[in-house]
Amino acid sequence: MQIEENISLKSFNTFGIDAKARRYASFSSREELEQMISAGKRSPLLILGGGSNILLTRDFEGLVAKNEVKGITELHEDEEHVYVRAGAGENWHQFVQYCLKRDWAGIENLSLIPGNVGASPMQNIGAYGVELAEVFWSLEAFHLKEMKTVTFTLSDCAFGYRESVFKNKYKDQFAVLTVTFRLRKKPIFHTSYGALQEELEKMGVKELTIQAISQAVINIRTSKLPDPKQIGNAGSFFKNPEVTKSKYESLNEKFPAIVGYSLVNGNYKLAAGWMIEQCGWKGFREGDAGVHPKQALVLVNYGHTTGKQIYDLSEKIAQSVYGKFGVQLEREVNVV
Ligand code: FAD
Ligand code: EPU
Repeated sequence: MQIEENISLKSFNTFGIDAKARRYASFSSREELEQMISAGKRSPLLILGGGSNILLTRDFEGLVAKNEVKGITELHEDEEHVYVRAGAGENWHQFVQYCLKRDWAGIENLSLIPGNVGASPMQNIGAYGVELAEVFWSLEAFHLKEMKTVTFTLSDCAFGYRESVFKNKYKDQFAVLTVTFRLRKKPIFHTSYGALQEELEKMGVKELTIQAISQAVINIRTSKLPDPKQIGNAGSFFKNPEVTKSKYESLNEKFPAIVGYSLVNGNYKLAAGWMIEQCGWKGFREGDAGVHPKQALVLVNYGHTTGKQIYDLSEKIAQSVYGKFGVQLEREVNVV
């Protein structure tokens, strides 16, 4: 284990924010993490994956510990499912590709989401009609204060839309070490998301496969979302807000073009990107902080902005959306 001091985190976060870590090290096993914690007692700790869902607003006066726990293991199978365990430090999309190669179905709609396996349960990653919760079986996490490993099952995680216990009740308390997935041997295709259907048609897909769905998702994502290698960003900056039916109806009367859809609980989910665009922010730029010209839900770093500038911009956006629509936006990105 090698601990570096005062290093720049610019290449460790997809926003490309040049904040510093007082100390930085990576760990590839529970034992290494334990040693690291023991060596730096009482120091604040930030567990880092691919850095694709964080906004660094300041230097981190503690230890940044990058999770590099690797390995993919097929645990067992039954008639319908295969149970696969992956190390938290495995790259998410490479794990998706590993499963596609073996015809293990369930995560094809989640292709090309940046980041690592270990962060996937943090916000119950989701895209194109599928959420992690649908394939999640269990995870092993290390309690950073009590120094013990705990197993979490599906119900323990209390997954919701971009939510889990790890973002709430247990925030900053655990390091996820491994995640076990229950994947299907025979696929159930999820193609109801409008853009996905259109793309599959455009591709001329005759016989649906999980590989075709993955390719369609990749095509949509590369055409819609900015590549962090080109422009710093962390995907959707805000969540899509949920409002009551009566709130939705009154908004719909005033703004007939509003984008929203009903949920099983009777509430409505609104497209935050549409509301932000209506407030005139799409393509906005102030210094190097901006709102992507093609996707208003994505805030971007054009080069040398600070996390504080991005945060301040997000504050102004949320205020103007509240002013126009009376809807409070909540950040999806983890602010550090
Ligand atoms: P990080 O950014 O490193 O960490 C995120 C949070 O989890 C931090 O609070 C960190 O402390 C904590 N954390 C990370 N790893 C661990 C661990 N092993 N144990 C404990 N805590 C940990 N998300 C979606 O849900 N759907 C999308 O479609 C989507 N599209 C995106 C597109 C782009 C272009 C980008 C840049 C991001 C997108 N995201 C999306 C957000 C992001 O990719 C996911 O949230 C991803 O799971 C984050 O993984 P990460 O390893 O980069 O996490
Ligand atoms: N829209 C606009 N203007 C914009 C952006 C979007 O009007 O500038 C409208 C679109 O026209 C569309 C609707 O908003 O009618 C939804 O847009 P899109 O399909 O692009 O999805 P999104 O709501 O912006 C969500 C997730 C993404 C996920 C996609 C696909 C959230 C916060 N974001 O984006 O996840 O990939 O759906 O499922 O739920 C992420 O979490 O980081 C992320 C990228």
